[in-house]
Amino acid sequence: MKTLIIFAHPHSRASKVNRPLLKAAEDLDNVTVRDLYQLYPDFKIDVAAEQAALEAADRVVLQFPVYWYSSPALLKQWEDDVLTHGWAYGSKGKALHGKELLVCVSVGGGQEHYTREGLHGYRLAELLRPYQSMAGLTGMKYIRPFMTFGARTIADEDLQNQQRRYRELLQTADPLPAYGLLETESN
Ligand SMILES: Cc1cc2nc3c(=O)[nH]c(=O)nc-3n(C[C@H](O)[C@H](O)[C@H](O)COP(=O)(O)O)c2cc1C
Repeated sequence: MKTLIIFAHPHSRASKVNRPLLKAAEDLDNVTVRDLYQLYPDFKIDVAAEQAALEAADRVVLQFPVYWYSSPALLKQWEDDVLTHGWAYGSKGKALHGKELLVCVSVGGGQEHYTREGLHGYRLAELLRPYQSMAGLTGMKYIRPFMTFGARTIADEDLQNQQRRYRELLQTADPLPAYGLLETESN
């Protein structure tokens, strides 16, 4: 399954989680990486190149550290510029139909903080609902997000496990199951 990772990290050299995760998957034959902050330090996105890369993929991964319950700014700019009416959505916008959308995020907060009673008040998967809605509008199949909690203090062994899990996930040739967030589900 041809997989495109849209990688958005403004400080990737200092990254403790996302850089190693990317490293664990980027050499797979079926994986192509577009590092947005490396490609577009001036935020001037080549829309045609991005759309062509998306069209060539079967599975699209948005990988980023969560900043203020959302993505780093350049990924938002990418969404606004690239996912255009008549291409990504609207009666003639079918370019992304049937592709998988996998969101891969890390957060500084621990899983226990992403609960109703916890510091952040919402589960992380709930906060990612805009991506779920994006998948709905563009006809993509939303996959269970790949989440790393406690990113700043993660133990080496846990990071290695995440690397192994991420690589396995992106190696999966069969379609991944669609994910519908249930109220009763934990993170
Ligand atoms: C500007 C900024 C905003 C952040 N916002 C959040 C947040 O909303 N929730 C959270 O749990 N962590 C937040 N963090 C922590 C990052 O998510 C965390 O450092 C990152 O996921 C670690 O990934 P990395 O090792 O690849 O850099 C924020 C960090 C920065 C710099």
